[in-house]
Amino acid sequence: MSMNANQPFSPLPGRACARLAAPALLAFLLTGACLRAEPATQAAPAQADRMAWFRDAKLGIFIHWGIYSKGVGSESWAFHDGDTTYEDYMAQASSFTASNYHPDEWARLFKEAGARYAVMTSKHHDGFALWDTKLSKLNAKDGSPAGRDLVTPYCEALRKEGLRVGLYFSNLDWSNPDYASILPTGANRSDPAYRNRFGYPQGAENPEAWKRFLAFHRGQLREISERFKPDLLWFDGDWERTDEQWQFKELRQQLLQWNPNGIVNGRIGKYGDYQTPEQYMPLVAPQSPWELCATVNDSWGYQIKDRNFKSVRQCVRMLAECAGMGGNLLLDIGPRSDGSIPDEDVAVLRGLGRWTHKHAEALYGSVAGIPAGYFYGATTLSKGRDTLYLICFDRPNGQVAVKGIMNDVLRTSVVGGPVLASRKIGGAPWLNMPGVLWIDVPESALDPDATVIKVELKGPLILATGPVRKV
Ligand code: GLC
Repeated sequence: MSMNANQPFSPLPGRACARLAAPALLAFLLTGACLRAEPATQAAPAQADRMAWFRDAKLGIFIHWGIYSKGVGSESWAFHDGDTTYEDYMAQASSFTASNYHPDEWARLFKEAGARYAVMTSKHHDGFALWDTKLSKLNAKDGSPAGRDLVTPYCEALRKEGLRVGLYFSNLDWSNPDYASILPTGANRSDPAYRNRFGYPQGAENPEAWKRFLAFHRGQLREISERFKPDLLWFDGDWERTDEQWQFKELRQQLLQWNPNGIVNGRIGKYGDYQTPEQYMPLVAPQSPWELCATVNDSWGYQIKDRNFKSVRQCVRMLAECAGMGGNLLLDIGPRSDGSIPDEDVAVLRGLGRWTHKHAEALYGSVAGIPAGYFYGATTLSKGRDTLYLICFDRPNGQVAVKGIMNDVLRTSVVGGPVLASRKIGGAPWLNMPGVLWIDVPESALDPDATVIKVELKGPLILATGPVRKV
């Protein structure tokens, strides 16, 4: 497997982004294909129940926080890619103080943003854990001035605000000497992709060491599953070994025993509950449940020099596009080593909150809207499919139009605004093709980020799909 295999598809410029996106993209493609090929290990109704909150949630906040949060280099990749030495990278632990860590404020901010869940890095690829794991000294309590478990207060604060708890966990662990002990099945040792000493065995392979690593991996997962009972375990870093080497099939069963209601993302080979496209918006709606993970600027963790922040409007658009295709947005922020959240992240979350709260009915609990071409913007539908929400990213020039609606229209209005005049014009009844629904939208009703128009229908939406006879 080449680390650059998918580079042409990376939507982000520069080496740093390509190196992050490539393995994850590959993981996504593999996962996506396999999710369809093999249903999850539990019976379908139980899985649907476990996934219900996730499908309705629409917005989550991703938190990359660890010893890299000093802001001078990327999370874990900095030493893997040789930007710094392993020793210098790990020495950053001495500035990981968590002295301004106020999880209650975090949770309130996430709620204000309109998020229904959050996912924090309990352990990134560097192997440094934020909880006081008994299985390694590399953790916030034993290995940094923070001097305590940081995961318990995070879980408590989120739950107090009614938010679901997610924990990110890196399968691979570039600090564990037993990790780089066995190559992926069929890998060719002379391939340059397998020369990184942190990821692959140097010299002879050692199956005994790999066995020890799996015991450690399971041990840490058991700790966080039983202790924190996360609603969501967000795996990453499965790409360096095969599903069989990881024994993911067995792991999925174990996870359900340790934490029966927990769901998992699609980065434990083919055994996840949903797909995780990363940093790019899918062009067509994925068929299985999904969540886009994307950063507020270009970095997962805090990086002093990264000023390439997205605007509130751009984040609103990402969120609306995800919801319009039936997915969620997991928007990533990077707190500093002391636990404070940079002002730019706070501003984006607050701005997003203004929009999400006003348009809650169009967002939470909605399902994917109508296909592109019927309306030029994102759309969502109520679960009963009798209310259609049109999300206008561009300023309507007096009117917006939507095609293909066979139902009678009962009422059109702006969400959080006035009732709107509308009428269908044209159509070819002899071909069963309805007219275009034209809706008048006055300037005064526009939202500064994205105006949402509510179309109430008589009965569940019936969409025209084309003339019923050849023309
Ligand atoms: C990639 C990166 C990792 C980041 C993750 C978030 O897999 O390897 O650094 O945590 O994306 O999805």
